[in-house]
Amino acid sequence: MTPLPNTPAPANKTRVLMAGGTGFIGEFVARASVDAGFDTFLLIRPCPTTTYKQALIKEFQEKGATLIHGVINDKELMEKILKEHEIEIVISLVGGRDLLDQLILVEAMKSIKTIKRYIPSEFGHDVDRATPVEPGLRMYKQKRTVRRAVEECGIPYTYICSNSIASWPYYDNSHPAQLPPPLDHMHIYGDGSVKAYFVDGNDIGRLAIKAASDIRTLNKIVHFRPQSNYYSMNELASLWENKIGRTIPRVTISEDLLLALAAENIEPDSVVASLTHDIFIKGCHNYNSDDPKEVDIGTLFPEETFRSLEDCFEDFAQLVREKKTNDYDDGDHINGNLKGTKNDDGVKGTKNGHNENNLKGIMKGDGVTHNKI
Ligand SMILES: NC(=O)c1ccc[n+]([C@@H]2O[C@H](COP(=O)([O-])OP(=O)(O)OC[C@H]3O[C@@H](n4cnc5c(N)ncnc54)[C@H](OP(=O)(O)O)[C@@H]3O)[C@@H](O)[C@H]2O)c1
Repeated sequence: MTPLPNTPAPANKTRVLMAGGTGFIGEFVARASVDAGFDTFLLIRPCPTTTYKQALIKEFQEKGATLIHGVINDKELMEKILKEHEIEIVISLVGGRDLLDQLILVEAMKSIKTIKRYIPSEFGHDVDRATPVEPGLRMYKQKRTVRRAVEECGIPYTYICSNSIASWPYYDNSHPAQLPPPLDHMHIYGDGSVKAYFVDGNDIGRLAIKAASDIRTLNKIVHFRPQSNYYSMNELASLWENKIGRTIPRVTISEDLLLALAAENIEPDSVVASLTHDIFIKGCHNYNSDDPKEVDIGTLFPEETFRSLEDCFEDFAQLVREKKTNDYDDGDHINGNLKGTKNDDGVKGTKNGHNENNLKGIMKGDGVTHNKI
């Protein structure tokens, strides 16, 4: 399989197939692909979809994307699509429940032998390095299985580790960027001092697309760790308070509570609780690496800037100002959507369906302290 040239191919010549381009992370990557002028083929499941996703598809088609109906776990179909459209780069953005569907896609790519780069559905942590508790670990094991299959088949790859999406890291919401930070109380994990990296969704998309066609990322793990967006929960809380001009009570969520939520094994909330534990208690974003198989996106593209978390929070604060009078539900969450977020059928306007009663039950224990400020 031929590696990509040293400089990105002429934008309109790179042929990209994207699975999951209407998903939470996929939207950013698909938009970046069409905006970069890549010849983008969107693989969409042939089943009823939401009006939000329909609008996205329309937007991408108007920008030149080609719509193809199909699923990645249909080997024959995938071989046909990859051959017919002379696909060079394949990007998967399938969600946590469908990760192993990628194994069939890998088989298809292996059999046609012409794929120049595969970007599997990762877009989080380095799954070979991080070891969250279950059920997050189960998801990581699936991502590891896909990595090993790709490597064994000799398919050129790039693993994108984009860390946390820029938003308030709710412990029970797998798509936190769809919600503004809280207004009634802020959950602080542990002592709130462990730092993590946050990346705006548009930066994830833009830089993932840039990395996908760069020879320097061939068979590499690419880390997104912008120093400018490196925050602890305590710092995030202060940033949000500064933005909205008032203090908000902080509630400590202990390690034990996060572990108890993870142990409930409710999908997807327990997965998010286990990853929250890994990030803000164990500090999985904090490591040193001089492994030549790993590259930092900022070192690769020093000319690129990351949108600051402060700017992202300003958007949320603006939303709060606009919605102040008419759109709160109970002073806790905001109904309605932020620019680029989703609130129609199939997508939550509030947090995932975490069992608040269970949480309250657990919160009666020692794990939570209430600090009125
Ligand atoms: N860094 C972060 O903060 C963060 C946050 C969330 C997720 N992630 C990661 O990002 C990746 C994507 O997750 P997500 O939450 O964005 O997913 P998502 O919102 O659930 O979207 C998944 C997309 O994949 C499509 N899909 C699923 N199975 C498919 C198949 N067999 N063939 C073709 N398309 C298929 C879905 O189609 P339909 O529209 O038909 O359902 C949907 O468009 C995952 O690896 C996840 O772990 C990272």
